[in-house]
Amino acid sequence: MLEGRPATGTVTIRPGTLEDIPVLVDLFMKAYRGLEEYGEESPDEARHYLKWLRRTCKEGFLVAEAEGKVVGFIAACSDWKDWELGRVLEIHEIAVAPAWQGKGVGRALLKAVFALGQACGMTLAALWVGERNYRARSWYAKLGFREIGRWGEWMRMICTIPVAKGE
Ligand SMILES: CC(C)(COP(=O)(O)OP(=O)(O)OC[C@H]1O[C@@H](n2cnc3c(N)ncnc32)[C@H](O)[C@@H]1OP(=O)(O)O)[C@@H](O)C(=O)NCCC(=O)NCCS
Repeated sequence: MLEGRPATGTVTIRPGTLEDIPVLVDLFMKAYRGLEEYGEESPDEARHYLKWLRRTCKEGFLVAEAEGKVVGFIAACSDWKDWELGRVLEIHEIAVAPAWQGKGVGRALLKAVFALGQACGMTLAALWVGERNYRARSWYAKLGFREIGRWGEWMRMICTIPVAKGE
């Protein structure tokens, strides 16, 4: 397990399981309040989406725990074939519970999938983010991503996976 130290206590990253899905549905719906156009229409839709992410991402479906609770998750495919970029670490989703945002949980989740991507020989990470999701866009930019294009209302962002310290 990878550990990070957020502003409050310790966050632990572990593989997500089917049993986590109900908690993640609630977390997802809350994290996307105000950004509904980029989230899912209902908890039912969110449950289907989360199950798809877990099936598709396998070892890249990770949850963050702090103070004994699930406070965030990330879903990334470590060997995704992009028609333009070739093989990439594709980050399909990341969400942190509103009460836990700004405490380093998102960064810890990203670090965990970067490690996974590196272990699979990936050098590039990529994602799609909603055009009007300004907060996430600036967050990704702060963490090293840059925008390379768009498709409709979705922005494409990429980042060279940073080499983990100590390697
Ligand atoms: C985007 C999201 C995952 C970020 O997670 P988070 O746990 O709040 O982020 P962190 O606390 O790990 O942020 C790490 C760093 O980014 C900074 N940061 C936080 N929000 C930022 C923003 N909007 N713009 C720039 N920097 C930001 C933090 O200050 C911190 O920097 P520091 O370590 O130098 O102090 C979270 O806000 C979220 O769940 N958003 C709703 C869902 C969403 O939009 N997901 C993206 C889908 S594409």
